[in-house]
Amino acid sequence: MRQQFMRDEPGWLGQDLTVFPRVGSTNQVLRERLSQENVPLGATVIALEQTAGRGRLGRVWTSLKGQGLYVSVVLYPPSLPQGGILSLLAGVALTDAVRDLTKMDAGLKWPNDGIIHGKKYAGILVEAGRLAIPWAIFGLGINVNGQAPEEFSHAITLAQAGADSLTLEALWQKLSHYLEARYERWLVDGHESILSAWRRYSVTLGHEVVAQGLSGTVTGVAEDIDEQGRLLIRHASRLIPISSGELSVRAANGSYTP
Ligand code: BTN
Repeated sequence: MRQQFMRDEPGWLGQDLTVFPRVGSTNQVLRERLSQENVPLGATVIALEQTAGRGRLGRVWTSLKGQGLYVSVVLYPPSLPQGGILSLLAGVALTDAVRDLTKMDAGLKWPNDGIIHGKKYAGILVEAGRLAIPWAIFGLGINVNGQAPEEFSHAITLAQAGADSLTLEALWQKLSHYLEARYERWLVDGHESILSAWRRYSVTLGHEVVAQGLSGTVTGVAEDIDEQGRLLIRHASRLIPISSGELSVRAANGSYTP
């Protein structure tokens, strides 16, 4: 099974590769490895099913067998960047990959939900910390095959969106390519390379939003993101930065989509 997910181009990301038919959480596997041993840059864990997939804000990430690509990658940023730039980076690479493979109009809802046809097909959980050096784990969950569970009316799979012959292996080939390329470019060119791509892919900017964060609820128009990847919401004459939380975006019919 590992063979199927080996990169078909040279590169450091994914050379150290573990593939599990079933595991608790790919992020957790790498966290435990980091606490026990020296883990090479780009070490990757892929699972075909997760029994304890973790989402943002303490949620569960439903990870059904064969339906999705559940993958985590270890990176060592030179310092721990303030804010969510790393998760924006992961979202941009994901969108590059899906657009390249499917030619569909994939976008990003702040901070980093993968969106197609107004529905979420992918989520990203970046966990970061410092041992001897700073580390980050990029965790991506991408709904690929079959139908999104009915209880999630705002969820979609890539197959439902029209990419019904996409394999998990082909998706990993493109995703690993773009994750590596975007990360290398960020190291050289800095945040702006990510922010400008994120703005192009955004389905959030220019829309009325409701943000529920730690410091309460903010409503207004999502105007931009700043250097740290915070969302800047225009509320009357003020521009309010939001660094984390739950965002709803007003759709054309006036309803707010989670
Ligand atoms: C979100 O809430 O939108 C983020 C979901 C992230 C899920 C992925 S699946 C692979 C990796 N392992 C986990 O336990 N979570 C992330």
